[in-house]
Amino acid sequence: MGSFVAVAWVLFLNVVVVCNGGKTSTFVRKAEKTVDMPLHSDVFVSPTGYNAPQQVHITQGDHVGKAIIVSWVTMDEPGKSMVHYWTDKSSHKNVAEGKFVTYRYFNYSSGFIHHCTLRNLEYNTKYYYEVGIGHTTRQFWFVTPPQVGPDVPYTFGLMGDLGQTFDSNKTLSHYEMNPRKGQTVLFVGDLSYADDCPYHDNARWDTWGRFVERSAAYQPWIWTTGNHELDFAPELGETKPFKPFTHRYRVPYKASQSTAPFWYSIKRASAYIIVLSSYSAYGKYTPQYEWLEAELPKVDRTETPWLIVLMHSPWYNSYDYHYMEGETMRVMFEPWFVKYKVDVVFAGHVHAYERSERVSNVAYKLVNGQCNPVKDLSAPVYITIGDGGNIEGLANNMTEPQPEYSAYREASFGHGILHIKNRTHAHYSWNRNDDGYAVEADSMWFFNRHYHPLDDSANDKFRN
Ligand SMILES: [Fe+2]
Repeated sequence: MGSFVAVAWVLFLNVVVVCNGGKTSTFVRKAEKTVDMPLHSDVFVSPTGYNAPQQVHITQGDHVGKAIIVSWVTMDEPGKSMVHYWTDKSSHKNVAEGKFVTYRYFNYSSGFIHHCTLRNLEYNTKYYYEVGIGHTTRQFWFVTPPQVGPDVPYTFGLMGDLGQTFDSNKTLSHYEMNPRKGQTVLFVGDLSYADDCPYHDNARWDTWGRFVERSAAYQPWIWTTGNHELDFAPELGETKPFKPFTHRYRVPYKASQSTAPFWYSIKRASAYIIVLSSYSAYGKYTPQYEWLEAELPKVDRTETPWLIVLMHSPWYNSYDYHYMEGETMRVMFEPWFVKYKVDVVFAGHVHAYERSERVSNVAYKLVNGQCNPVKDLSAPVYITIGDGGNIEGLANNMTEPQPEYSAYREASFGHGILHIKNRTHAHYSWNRNDDGYAVEADSMWFFNRHYHPLDDSANDKFRN
């Protein structure tokens, strides 16, 4: 019986393999332009009560997962930047003190934006927390990750370019309803798309914060900056890039010796996650370059076998949109990604989905003319997942023919799940919004580049 199941499983895998490689999906999805949800939509409703905390969200607050940064906004008055928190095993309330900031953007004045770090948390523990102390309080909860280690299973959700349209809501709902439960979101940039509104209407940063609270208050979202976080508008007198983002969203960049909140790293369970900034300088001698050069040798794959990089602008993108925008960063950093055997790179920016084979393009010298991506088992898989569903619509024009390195591409909105099983295997899947919650439109088994660096290409043609 056991061998029959094994044979059936192999046959099933073969069918998936044959169907999966080098494919441009012919899936037909709606063509209408997507629109922002109106301001009175239920997902944007402010909580009731005087000075009630809103836009509550959390992210990892240190390098190893024993701290959480809690952020929220109060509108009527500053109130307290204090968080009460306790475990499900004890009702003793711990207290942490934070701070609040405000900012102005053109004719917009922000609410009071609070950030408070909870430190020295126990691993693998459910914590309840309460904000709004002194006025209207609201309670939420989160679960800390297991202690960092090579065989710790963990499940990450992947979303990017989300915005706040009806499609964005569908993407988030599908992520929440996916039977493979994500424990932390890796967000690849472009959050609110407030800058697509007249005068970069920052009230749309507030609505976005209220929209994602239902997930982001309960599990950490790991932030990457995209071009829509720049909010650079000299015509409005706004010349400091990333102003709304940096006031509203905090990341633990100092814990990884970074000098700016746009590039940093965290460890979580069995993963080492490096976040890069497509919109900060990365040329030789720049702070980001020097940081990454010093950072990569620090990754101990025997502790965290899975090396994951997040960035906004993809290096390998065969859509017409944003074509080759990632090229200059690729030229600078790709040799390092191959040298240090990055497992997977997730990017956004292109409002569609694409997964590459393991390829590199590092042989090129100005004088040798070798400029084609080639199969490279030390190279990462590149996944573009900028298909969150924002107001700018789908990227549905592709370069033709589909390049050989492109394993699967499809212009649909959706989200991804990366489920790390152990030090050798991780299962990755992509779900399109047009299907049911449990349907995997694209998937692959990742073989870890340190512990199991075999060919994990799903495409028979590419494998040989
Ligand atoms: Fe973008």
